[in-house]
Amino acid sequence: MAESMKGLKRTHRCTELSVANVGEEVTVMGWVQKNRNKGGIIFVDLRDRSGILQIIFEQGEDLSRAVDAENFAKAESLRSEYVIAVVGKVEKREGNANANMKTGDIEVRATQVRILSESETPPFPIEADSKTKEELRLKYRYLDLRRPDLQEKIMMRSRVTAKIREFMTKEGFLEIETPILNKSTPEGARDYLVPSRIHPGSFYALPQSPQLFKQLLMCSGYDRYFQIAKCFRDEDLRADRQPEFTQVDMELSFVDVDDVIEVNERLLKYIFKDTIGIDIQLPIQRMTWQEAMDRYGSDKPDTRFGMELVNVSDVVAGCGFSVFSGALENGGSVRGINAKGQGAMPRKKIDALIEYAKGFGAKGLAYIAIQPDGTVKSSFAKFMTEDEMAALIKAMDGENGDLLLFAADKNKVVWDVLGNLRLEIARNLGILDKNQYNFLWVTEFPLLEWSEEENRYVAMHHPFTMPMEEDLALLDTDPGKVRAKAYDIVLNGTELGGGSVRIFQNHIQEKMFEIIGLSKETANERFGFLLNAFKYGVPPHAGLAFGLDRMVMLMAQADSIREVIAFPKVKDASCLMTDAPNLVDDIQLEELGIAVVKQAETEA
Ligand code: AMO
Ligand code: AMP
Repeated sequence: MAESMKGLKRTHRCTELSVANVGEEVTVMGWVQKNRNKGGIIFVDLRDRSGILQIIFEQGEDLSRAVDAENFAKAESLRSEYVIAVVGKVEKREGNANANMKTGDIEVRATQVRILSESETPPFPIEADSKTKEELRLKYRYLDLRRPDLQEKIMMRSRVTAKIREFMTKEGFLEIETPILNKSTPEGARDYLVPSRIHPGSFYALPQSPQLFKQLLMCSGYDRYFQIAKCFRDEDLRADRQPEFTQVDMELSFVDVDDVIEVNERLLKYIFKDTIGIDIQLPIQRMTWQEAMDRYGSDKPDTRFGMELVNVSDVVAGCGFSVFSGALENGGSVRGINAKGQGAMPRKKIDALIEYAKGFGAKGLAYIAIQPDGTVKSSFAKFMTEDEMAALIKAMDGENGDLLLFAADKNKVVWDVLGNLRLEIARNLGILDKNQYNFLWVTEFPLLEWSEEENRYVAMHHPFTMPMEEDLALLDTDPGKVRAKAYDIVLNGTELGGGSVRIFQNHIQEKMFEIIGLSKETANERFGFLLNAFKYGVPPHAGLAFGLDRMVMLMAQADSIREVIAFPKVKDASCLMTDAPNLVDDIQLEELGIAVVKQAETEA
């Protein structure tokens, strides 16, 4: 039966005790990790969020060392995950110290124990490095969250947000909340919609980011804003994507690219140093988008290793291999990577790489495997002259024992294929060091991206991003070539954050809407409030948002952002613990003026 804690007050967390407390009477409370009964002596491992402390219960007459019979009986009945309070005296462990435990050189000799709450046998053991399947752990997330390794990550996240608030406040940023119930302004990911009861048929949208509001705050003169903001995007989930996630969002007035980069570099340095002891060297390396694509085939390159892309289009121009010449004739390119020392890779593994490449749109992958003895195995040598092969190998810096892989296609496909292939090879080789933190700014992104699906230009970042002044004239002649004042911060191949300088002149904003095919009417309908605000004196402004979940994931060296979110969702955007989303009562729907066209009916 559960007892009350009346009259008791916790004096310490488990691992706040040390040899410095020897002799003190303390009261500790927590969960029973383990209970070992050795006859007249019982050892209990008591756990709280700080860690584990050993409690000793001894039977006997000398009540300065032993507990009475009633308390001993209670100690005997303790099982895993019972919540207990223990009063006792801190003692130095004599001769049986445990070097693996933070509190391994002490124990608490109990004089009193209270069972505050009993526990059924949990569906899985509460321990670090759980072997339990993630689905089961997510269903019982409240138990999973008791595990020390998960607690470590959740506590790290709390430290990170505390540090961010500290830094931003010191730098003169104001923390201002923006609304969650918003107007739907589809552009970017799909919105999550919330039906309005008072306005039947109308919907709010949950924010994909506080973008428009933070720009309005600049119009209102708040100068430097930040927010740790929940954002919602209805997109397909991956290991580093959740339908609701958290941004460290900021906006600054009277600044340009370098100002935003400068303050964010110092923010990163501050957090990483203080939380995980990593000393980021400033300034962080910068690379233009074009260079990132050409060298790494990615706008978020992992620079912890080389294996850079080489454009061999000029070398193979006019060669007899139709795959290469065909791609060039269609305006594409031929590029390769050199997997150094992998020339003897078995055919099976090369085939697996080819299959992997096809997953990214490659029609095939051409290879030259230079054996350690210098002989060459190649999928296309028969179409090439000896001189052509030699020139190609030379261009790739190919040496005995190297594996050269080539993709020929439109640039976009070639970059994507080889960019991902180099990561796959690095993963297979196990050369990605989680203890190495390579930061990189990617700058000068294209302003626009051509969408084949929609047959129009779409904004690569968002439609409020300022074109580079040098490229303004191209807006009329060749919009696809215009570069933007946009920047991403990348860490080890993950996009940690991104932002831009904003358009603050109406004529450029109008031009931008025109190029992405947004009529004046639609633009006004969607963003009229912003465009109107710009009529009344708008400061030049710029900003950025970090993905907090991703940042903590990388700091904690976790494999997924689910590990740094207390209650995450799974791939199909559901919550295995609460079963959200769920069907709702007809009455609720009626009040909202909503009729559900059931899945079954839609299919029929
Ligand atoms: P952006 O769309 O690049 O920019 O988002 C900023 C950062 O948020 C993180 N992020 C995500 N994290 C987890 N799950 C997701 N589904 C998800 N989507 C994005 C990424 C990303 O870099 N308003 C602009 C910022 C600005 O211009 O100031 C914006 O939202 O780490
Ligand atoms: P094929 O003549 O189609 O059998 O192709 C010969 C070799 O070229 C095979 O190894 C294919 O995998 C490879 N290949 C085909 N298409 C491409 C491509 N777009 N880029 C690179 N290699 C390719």
